[in-house]
Amino acid sequence: MSSDHNRELRSRSWFNDPANPGMTAIYLERYLNYGITIEELQSGKPIIGIAQSGSDLSPCNRHHLELAKRVRDGIIASGGIPLEFPVHPIQETGKRPGAALDRNLAYLGLVELLYGYPIDGVVLTIGCDKTTPSQLMAAATVNIPAIALSVGPMLNGWHDGQRTGSGTIVWKAREQLATGDIDYDEFLELVASSTNSVGFCNTMGTASTMNSLAEALGMELPGGAAIPAPYRQRAQMSYQTGARIVDLVRDDVKPSDILTRDAFLNAIAVNTAIGGSTNAPIHLQAIARHMGVDLSLSDWQTHGHDLPLLVNLQPAGEYLGEDFYRAGGVPAVVNQLMDAGAIRDDAMTVSGRTIGQNCRGAVIEQPEVIRPYRDPLMHSAGFVVMTGNIFDAAIMKTSVIDDEFRRRYLQQPGDPDAFEGTAIVFDGPEDYHARIETEPGVDARSILFMRGAGPIGYPGAAEVVNMQPPAALLQAGIGALPCIGDGRQSGTSGSPSILNASPEAAAGGNLAVLRTGDRVRVDLRKARVDMLVDDEEIAARRTKLDSAGGYRGPASQTPWQQLHRDSVGQMDAGMVMEDATGYQRIAQT
Ligand code: FES
Ligand code: MG
Repeated sequence: MSSDHNRELRSRSWFNDPANPGMTAIYLERYLNYGITIEELQSGKPIIGIAQSGSDLSPCNRHHLELAKRVRDGIIASGGIPLEFPVHPIQETGKRPGAALDRNLAYLGLVELLYGYPIDGVVLTIGCDKTTPSQLMAAATVNIPAIALSVGPMLNGWHDGQRTGSGTIVWKAREQLATGDIDYDEFLELVASSTNSVGFCNTMGTASTMNSLAEALGMELPGGAAIPAPYRQRAQMSYQTGARIVDLVRDDVKPSDILTRDAFLNAIAVNTAIGGSTNAPIHLQAIARHMGVDLSLSDWQTHGHDLPLLVNLQPAGEYLGEDFYRAGGVPAVVNQLMDAGAIRDDAMTVSGRTIGQNCRGAVIEQPEVIRPYRDPLMHSAGFVVMTGNIFDAAIMKTSVIDDEFRRRYLQQPGDPDAFEGTAIVFDGPEDYHARIETEPGVDARSILFMRGAGPIGYPGAAEVVNMQPPAALLQAGIGALPCIGDGRQSGTSGSPSILNASPEAAAGGNLAVLRTGDRVRVDLRKARVDMLVDDEEIAARRTKLDSAGGYRGPASQTPWQQLHRDSVGQMDAGMVMEDATGYQRIAQT
């Protein structure tokens, strides 16, 4: 960080390069065609990109089209010149075969834009699940001054006087439809009730999680994550964010000054306290790898597991986004964690102050929504990082294990943290849907396995590991079976699944040789999942599979799916394009 306000900006090498007047003329000429003047472009004012992620195709982020007007006002008021441009749109629930495939595509696209155009600093317009990590990953790679602006959550959903939360209500309504409690029209009405305004999912799904973690990382102004999208405070935050990025350029504060290992450990701590999504480890790992920061899945166990759950939001709890904002948002959570010594309070943020300075004294306004550290919703609520003979690494979100699940599978005499069951194995979501109602032998002691759903098998990794039991079991009152797989799970789902198994079946993982009918033991205390099949038998199955060409997923349907498969790494390593990781801090002036 330096405060050399006379430092030459990188945009100058496009628009005012005395050594290359011919190229300067060419660069200048076309930007004049909608009315910018040569004087402005040569004024030495910072040129600020607004990376626009909103569009009609990405409704969760669409309100950024409005907010960008206030961002522009802030940039201009602070002495900068705004240049708004689109980034590849991502919509979590609408994109086939899955939006996660597009995280790395949007990343690559934004890297190209930030590197190749005359941009001195950038406002990242974050929101829907993958739109946040993709933009932070790109800002890390290019390493020009950057600040994130959340679009904010939707207003609370309501139905019959009850809060209905995005995504979470779908999982519940599906169960009611399957058991015949509601018909399809009521199902649609119930689902639509969760969507009351512009903004992203109002539950603590992946969107609220990643926006909160962007703030915990120091990349948003304090309080920036939780303000609901339609509130006037959201537009005011947009103005302040626009004003602030100009200062960050003048002071040359880059992502590498903010995204330190301490910042990532703070984000891990906050993730536990908010009951954050199981997608967060993948995305934080990806940002860290592109920033060149040392982070691993074991950091989640070491720095996240023993912390408590403080935020009472669906799916782990009761409330929604508006409540989280009124209760104090991320600063109130950080302040509680800070009092307990769980925050590295010297970590610098885009506000120009440390996270400690930003959040110290932030009070909890509604203790039923944000609980104090000494009276949490749950102790040791972080992820358990599991291993065993089926995969090297997978995670389990313990904060969503409910009492029924605990009674049925854990708390057995003599074996309180472990259970055994019979594997029912599915090859991808299509296979699950085709077979779940007719598969023989599925009962309360079954463990459902999903494979072929990882970064390579189902390019981008499908959110399909949380599998609903067959209707007959639901009607018998078995609301959930243990689920394990090499795919992901929606952050809005409350299922206690074991997810993100790495390596996946399609990358040589032993999930590929597991068979329906195998006995499997899950031990939460030892953090292991093992198939009770002896080593010689596993080796024999492996030899047979490999000689038949190995585990294959479906063929690629688009060029990008194939390029992704050819370069993508496993989820424990962030599911990044491995070929991209050799390019770091690439911005030049
Ligand atoms: Fe976009 Fe949830 S689907 S935020
Ligand atoms: Mg999701």
